[in-house]
Amino acid sequence: MKKLMGVLLMIGVAACTSIEVLAPPVDQLYISEAGISAERAAFLRKGRKIYVNACSTCHDTRQVDDISAKAWKTHIPKMYKKAKLYPEEIEQVSAYIKTSAKINQRLIARREQQKR
Ligand code: HEC
Repeated sequence: MKKLMGVLLMIGVAACTSIEVLAPPVDQLYISEAGISAERAAFLRKGRKIYVNACSTCHDTRQVDDISAKAWKTHIPKMYKKAKLYPEEIEQVSAYIKTSAKINQRLIARREQQKR
């Protein structure tokens, strides 16, 4: 039984995209790829927290670089209202999503290289 649970767990982990890919953490690699200051990184970290928490209450966390221009215009502004975010939080989360979307593919590739 334990063995079966282990196999099921492994399948589960393999099937879902990791949070690192969906919402990359603002770590050293991120900072160097984005070319941002430590201060900006702290700002984006706050945005990531909001993104991971407030944007996953109705659906799973969306991959940052998988948000269409149309969603930005129509869905996202509505969600900011629904999530009852303060203006400062909206700035943080928008900045996080926009910066991350630009570098996410590079981050994924770099992390793959590091694993090898
Ligand atoms: C109140 C519930 C709710 C919250 C909170 C929410 N969403 Fe959504 N979202 C939905 C629903 C419902 C849909 C449409 C059905 C679907 O695609 O799952 C959707 C769809 C989307 C889509 C696809 C839309 C498209 O046009 O392709 C994206 C991207 C998205 N959400 C991102 C976000 C982000 C970013 C946040 C945080 C700012 C967020 N959502 C917060 C309910 C929510």
